[in-house]
Amino acid sequence: MLLTHLDAATMRGGYGLIKDAAILLEDERIAWVGPRVEAPGGGRTVACGGRLVSPGLIDCHTHLVYGGSRAHEFEQRLTGVSYAEIAKAGGGIASTVRATRSQSEAELRAAALKRLDCLLAEGATTVEIKSGYGLDRETEVKMLSVARGLSRVRPVDVVTSYLGAHALPPEFRDDRAAYVDLVCNEVIPLVAREKLADAVDAFCEGIAFSVEETRRVFEAARACGLPVKLHAEQLSNLGGAKLAASFGALSVDHIEYLDQSGVDAIAGSGTAAVLLPGAFYYLRETQLPPVTALRKAGVPVAIATDLNPGSSPVHSLLATMNMACVLFALTPEEALLGLTANAARALGLKDRGVIAPGMKADLALWDIERPGELAYPLGLNPLKAVIRNGKLVRGDLS
Ligand code: NIG
Ligand code: FE
Repeated sequence: MLLTHLDAATMRGGYGLIKDAAILLEDERIAWVGPRVEAPGGGRTVACGGRLVSPGLIDCHTHLVYGGSRAHEFEQRLTGVSYAEIAKAGGGIASTVRATRSQSEAELRAAALKRLDCLLAEGATTVEIKSGYGLDRETEVKMLSVARGLSRVRPVDVVTSYLGAHALPPEFRDDRAAYVDLVCNEVIPLVAREKLADAVDAFCEGIAFSVEETRRVFEAARACGLPVKLHAEQLSNLGGAKLAASFGALSVDHIEYLDQSGVDAIAGSGTAAVLLPGAFYYLRETQLPPVTALRKAGVPVAIATDLNPGSSPVHSLLATMNMACVLFALTPEEALLGLTANAARALGLKDRGVIAPGMKADLALWDIERPGELAYPLGLNPLKAVIRNGKLVRGDLS
């Protein structure tokens, strides 16, 4: 199929716009892209009405499988109680852990599908999902299995991360080391063996795990051949990003408190930075991530929803683009790169995120002329169609 009469935001080496482009799809791959006048002839041609096409969007950081709701904590925070105070009082992640442990796979799946459908309605074709609300072996496996299963019932690729080191479970309150032992010696080998996780993540923070504990988790992941990523420098600067860089991490995420030496460390290791403006917004943070320094150092910057029940109940990639621009001063082109090429980098996926020959034919067609039209309105969805693996899975192309 040859798609014509469109402008292509290829995301190759930057925004990479080709005006009046053509894209040849062969089976599940992109075979050719370039100016329409140079397009190979023959075969079926579909004229796309002069719209803008981008790679299918990639949400590279979500926690969308979980039980319960934290609306009551949202209300508490509105009265001035902080996220860290709620966590210390047994709420926060721990309250979602209780709800997630008590739910069946079917219940978790049904709730997760509703959330996933919001992302798909805005052009997502790949979504990363973390565990971390079970903490015990059984519930972590349950979460990862539910996450994996979602791609069997929806047109999306799901990438999973095991986030056992998300919070200390209540049953280990008096023995942190024993919990880290469980994560490292039992659960990481199990999820690696069963191919339930594509990566290992951790939350390195005062209210979560120390740099030394995180190092143990990363060593266990390395021993099992799994890449790592990290929730780092979100609420304070512990130096987690440097540790992550030393393990060649795929990404460091949040990073509001990352300093110049941290930026230099990740620039040197090829680690992507993942900005999560939804969590910044909901927690009313004031410390901005070092966007200028990241740009200067040439670090690939991705953005993601961080969809989770506590700090970022954000179900919209377009709203995330908007927040990345308004709150973090990304350009709309940078925000789109953050949901395509750089999001693929953050997941270690080399076959998507750009429109180029040999890449997966995952495309989103938008009824717009420029990426600013994706980032500038809130609540308006200009998605016209989605192609995944070379097949139309949403909307129509004409
Ligand atoms: O990415 N930072 C840690 N984890 C999640 C929040 C989880 C929660 O509050 O339930 C995050 O923001
Ligand atoms: Fe997160």
